[in-house]
Amino acid sequence: MGTMTDTEATAAADLLMGRIERLATLTEGPGMLVRRSFTPEATEANRLVGDWMRQAGMAVRTDAVCNLIGRYEGTAPGAKTLILGSHLDSVRDAGKYDGPLGVLTALACAEHLHRAGRRLPFALEVIAFTDEEGLRFRTSYVGSSAVSGAFDPAWLEIADADGITMAAAMRAAGGDPTAIRSCRYDPDRVIGYCEAHIEQGPALEDIDLPVGVVSAISSQERATVTFTGVAGHAGTVPMRLRHDALCAAAAFVLAVESAAAGTPGAVATVGQLSVSPGASNVIPGTTTLSLDVRHRDDAQRAAVARNLRDTAEQIATERKVRMDWQPVQQTPATPCAPALVAILAGAIESLGIPAHHLPSGAGHDGVPLSHLTQVAMLFVRCAGGISHNPAESVAVEDVAVAIEVLWRSLDSLAIDPAFAAS
Ligand code: HGY
Ligand code: MN
Ligand code: MN
Repeated sequence: MGTMTDTEATAAADLLMGRIERLATLTEGPGMLVRRSFTPEATEANRLVGDWMRQAGMAVRTDAVCNLIGRYEGTAPGAKTLILGSHLDSVRDAGKYDGPLGVLTALACAEHLHRAGRRLPFALEVIAFTDEEGLRFRTSYVGSSAVSGAFDPAWLEIADADGITMAAAMRAAGGDPTAIRSCRYDPDRVIGYCEAHIEQGPALEDIDLPVGVVSAISSQERATVTFTGVAGHAGTVPMRLRHDALCAAAAFVLAVESAAAGTPGAVATVGQLSVSPGASNVIPGTTTLSLDVRHRDDAQRAAVARNLRDTAEQIATERKVRMDWQPVQQTPATPCAPALVAILAGAIESLGIPAHHLPSGAGHDGVPLSHLTQVAMLFVRCAGGISHNPAESVAVEDVAVAIEVLWRSLDSLAIDPAFAAS
């Protein structure tokens, strides 16, 4: 299929970094990068990347959940498909690379194919998945779940902070909530999924490597916890007669921290907390918080979450407030496919770089896609291990390595009978 020279990889990385900056201007702002699903900014990001895909000789479409899909045909019509990609939506006050780096690294490979006038024995699709982060509706992996058939129709009724349901937001963005099933791929037509992603942790920087291969993606559980006490006058209700919902939440937040700190390999986070009625001279009547629990092992993750639910009940009893626990989403630990991991590792080693294998504490679209096909991920070194933070950054030299590794992986897949004969 032909090589990619270091010069070509460097030029592709430079182009990619410019595109990252361009995408970062598409923000709901102000003063930060935030691009929730189904917003005008998300639609504009899809349009912009779709134009770049067309320039790379790809047929471009968006599906019923607004996934952006670029397709570069293979040599044989009707050949099976290798999917590359990531997401373009973000968290709040996000970094620029979480998501777009993977979409644009994949696009760089399609552009190189197009420039060389070459085709693979399989079709190549680059997908920018809708709502990987779950910032707007709290459920992550919306687009990749629709592609893999794991989409839960109940999600369509979830309302965002402005009371807009996912169905209404999807429709307003040009999607079709009545046609989610049309997004599903036939497992027999897909040979695999590979995603390049900023590591979002310090491991590669710590061992001074530009890239690494992901061994598995951690198990994750999200819930919404509400404490309901009695709102009251801050000046007249004695402390012993209070049912303060924020004090209950505060006790729970610290219990979350100590439960995770006390369980090797566990992490747990309360990232969102709302207080009602929210006045300085009113004892909080209601608090609602988000809970995110993770562990490489499903059983351990479930045990931490279950214990925290018991703790929340106990806090509510002691403080004579009510507690409501709403499960939002559970996603299992997802091992990456050995055959694809070996292809990525071999491509890294062919560049004279040790192939370091590492787990992902962050969730990725490969989790639902593992129900559809074999999945693998390539991590790119993350400066200071900082992510989900505007200080998130990667080095252009490491991006060039990632593009070359992905390119060489395509090269290997193209001659591997297990894949090419598809
Ligand atoms: O939450 C995560 O791990 C990912 O960023 N969605
Ligand atoms: Mn993220
Ligand atoms: Mn991500």
